[in-house]
Amino acid sequence: MTPADVAAKRYATKVFDPTQRISDDDFAQLMAVMRLAPSSVNTQPWHFFVAADDDAKTRLAAAAAPVGSIYAYNAPKILAASHSVVFSAQQTLSDDYLHHLSGVEQADGRYKSPQARSNYQNTRLQFVTINREDPRGLADWCARQVYLNIGASLMAAAQMGIDALPMEGIDTDGLNKTLNLNNQGLQPLAIICFGYAAQEDFNADLPKSRLPMGELFTHL
Ligand SMILES: Cc1cc2nc3c(=O)[nH]c(=O)nc-3n(C[C@H](O)[C@H](O)[C@H](O)COP(=O)(O)O)c2cc1C
Repeated sequence: MTPADVAAKRYATKVFDPTQRISDDDFAQLMAVMRLAPSSVNTQPWHFFVAADDDAKTRLAAAAAPVGSIYAYNAPKILAASHSVVFSAQQTLSDDYLHHLSGVEQADGRYKSPQARSNYQNTRLQFVTINREDPRGLADWCARQVYLNIGASLMAAAQMGIDALPMEGIDTDGLNKTLNLNNQGLQPLAIICFGYAAQEDFNADLPKSRLPMGELFTHL
């Protein structure tokens, strides 16, 4: 399949088949894609909470899509998907964390000299500082990196024949409480449900609808 074929095939799956599970090998591939996604100055400001069994998915659905809330319509997707994953973003990038990143890069052989390491750390700090001072703030910058990860993960799943649904319709306060996210310096952004569509998924056969090419592209 070409990348455009994968993009055309991927769609927001609304009804999952609860009897079909993603194999451990396939889910390991997806986790590898999440880990390898790009981020500005390699900040990797994300953490993923994976609900893969009924108990975890029940707790996740209760927190993110409580009965009676405006998000309740998303609960069946969390429950029936094979794996439901919370994509969360860091809210601050502490000095300790930036130091940790640099240490991992050093151990991974990214630097040919101490000077190269120090140069990169300075560049990273410049970007972090610019975004701390930006009115949108550092948390927003981190969130933008996580959305790139979401895009990469959705495309990878489609390429593997795994159906998925990204969901922002979630109770972030409920998730914060249940997963104790704020105390870990994290904010929840979205849940991606990964699994396999049920026969009765009404969205599967709907044609794609997108704005025409001419409206989207300006060739300079
Ligand atoms: C960031 C994001 C958040 C979304 N949130 C929800 C959601 O909470 N519930 C839902 O059923 N669909 C959700 N969707 C699915 C979109 O409605 C869907 O992707 C869009 O209509 C385009 O259709 P397609 O993905 O099938 O091409 C979300 C999609 C994105 C990218």
